Amino acid sequence: MFLTDLAGTGLVLTAPTPSDIDRIAKCCTDPAIGRWTTMPVPYTRSDAEAFVRKVVPVGWADRSPTWAVRRTAAGAVLGMIGLGARDSSAAEVGFWLAPEARGEGIITRALNLVCDFGFRVDALALERIEWRAFVGNSASAEVARRVGFRFEGTARSGGLQRGTRRDMWVAALLPDDPREPAVGWPD
Ligand SMILES: CC(C)(COP(=O)(O)OP(=O)(O)OC[C@H]1O[C@@H](n2cnc3c(N)ncnc32)[C@H](O)[C@@H]1OP(=O)(O)O)[C@@H](O)C(=O)NCCC(=O)NCCS
Repeated sequence: MFLTDLAGTGLVLTAPTPSDIDRIAKCCTDPAIGRWTTMPVPYTRSDAEAFVRKVVPVGWADRSPTWAVRRTAAGAVLGMIGLGARDSSAAEVGFWLAPEARGEGIITRALNLVCDFGFRVDALALERIEWRAFVGNSASAEVARRVGFRFEGTARSGGLQRGTRRDMWVAALLPDDPREPAVGWPD
């Protein structure tokens, strides 16, 4: 699919480019990113390089777009968000923010833009966007809950993190779900 920029609510989402590699490498050394994602620990510049030069283009060619989150088109990377195709009409969302960009609702706004794009019939025409997080990732759960994702349960040993199986929370958003905080999430 063609690279598509998204914009709104003070954010611009564009595909990461080679000029972002150093910044991505720095952000991804944050311990919370290592703790809550499947990204390599320690995270090196060559990990960021492989991500930008290989993972991102392959994803865009295969209905699995990734965007860097910025305040302006030329601005520094604040975080990353992407959709990974699970099948022809469902995808899983993933995201992280640099520590200094947290606490402002940035990823909540970015997730709304990405879900709009995912559901658009002239874009990915998704019928389900899934969110999964390792149990205990309350910051990520709060983001998904606020956007309207409905909690569906815990997948026991549902995820593999660097060789260790961990329980995962699972939630999903469907095209017609209200975009308002959902009930039924764990405290
Ligand atoms: C997930 C992430 C993107 C959220 O970013 P954010 O929304 O800017 O983070 P915030 O600090 O604003 O947290 C969002 C909400 O969760 C709450 N929260 C944060 N940490 C929490 C915790 N440990 N327990 C309970 N609530 C928590 C915050 O209080 C905030 O609510 P508030 O705005 O009412 O104060 C960011 O924490 C991150 O990059 N984490 C590491 C990578 C990651 O976990 N990615 C998702 C994998 S599924």
